[in-house]
Amino acid sequence: MNAKFHNALNGTPQDVPPIWFMRQAGRYHQHYQALRKAHGFMELCKKADLAAEVALGPIQDFDFDVSIMFSDLLFPLEALGMGLTYDPAPKLGWHLTESSLQNLRPFHQALEGLGFQGDVLRATRKALPKDKSLIGFIGGPWTLFTYAVEGEHKGSLIAAKRALDLYHNFSEFLIPLLEANVQIQLEGGAEVVMMFDTAAGEMSPQIFNQHLAPHILRVAKKFPGKIGYYSKGTTPWHIQELRRQTAFAGFGVDHRFEIADVLKTNARGFIQGNFDQAMLFCAPREFEKRLLSYLEPIRRLSSAERRHWVSGLGHGVLPQTPEENVRHFVKRVREVFGS
Ligand code: CP3
Repeated sequence: MNAKFHNALNGTPQDVPPIWFMRQAGRYHQHYQALRKAHGFMELCKKADLAAEVALGPIQDFDFDVSIMFSDLLFPLEALGMGLTYDPAPKLGWHLTESSLQNLRPFHQALEGLGFQGDVLRATRKALPKDKSLIGFIGGPWTLFTYAVEGEHKGSLIAAKRALDLYHNFSEFLIPLLEANVQIQLEGGAEVVMMFDTAAGEMSPQIFNQHLAPHILRVAKKFPGKIGYYSKGTTPWHIQELRRQTAFAGFGVDHRFEIADVLKTNARGFIQGNFDQAMLFCAPREFEKRLLSYLEPIRRLSSAERRHWVSGLGHGVLPQTPEENVRHFVKRVREVFGS
């Protein structure tokens, strides 16, 4: 367990924030590339010792405060019988339509396909230094629906957006499975489970609040204080209602949010974010300049005003990101707030 991460969760003021990145284990990292040469992506996810080794790589190399279960958010679709391969982009065996809804596996059968994540978390916990935290993740219902219908998240999402009835029907299958998935991860040792809802920001705030938020909230309410919510491309109008709810552990915000403002006005729960991940591609001196100017408004806040901050990126680390800048980010954030 990481004390800084728990301070941010509980709103205990501190100088130096905890740090973790989405996709901190992945293709940009030599450690991952070496393991990936010897093993398929699915194998890395499903063999507990290998998944633990992948998750530990960025902790050992960059000293993040929090380790994320190494897995993928599309496994519930595989568990529901949709067939999943990676090349490296995910590919489903078939796409969801009104008439294929009945082909989804029933809950108890589907559940068997997700137990491996409990083993992954237990193996990761065992290998992880005691002063680090461990979190799990699931996909948001709308994001999983988008993949189920479209097979990818690209373009205008017309097929998914026109099928809101199907989305609600699918959610009746999916939500109990996601809830069981969260339970598996908590029992495996996840301290918090993030819901990554990458495609939710594609919807208008009105549709988000009317159609997406109730399903998200249903999962969060089942595990009070345990679910963190993040979606790329959302605006304050999307998440303001959800942020009033006491059920959530916290929220991730992407780089479109003014983070100093969000922190200063945040009533409860962690706020994770939000440096633009593309900036990690800058040459070292330029990167240093942009990082320092990003940190400046946060530095001007008192430690009480930024007590909920978990330092991270707007979205995930991109393939080919220079490792040096990832290392430098962690070091610099600790220096800036430690002095
Ligand atoms: O954060 C971590 O270190 C944990 C690992 C993690 C992966 N995927 C590993 C992965 C996490 C948190 C995810 C989340 C995920 N997966 C999301 C939500 C966040 C986001 O980036 O939008 C989504 C939409 C997926 C689905 C997915 N999985 C895609 C679109 C792809 C292929 C393209 C890509 O960006 O990598 C994957 C494959 C995948 N998931 C890889 C990794 C390391 C690459 C597989 C390989 O090595 O060949």
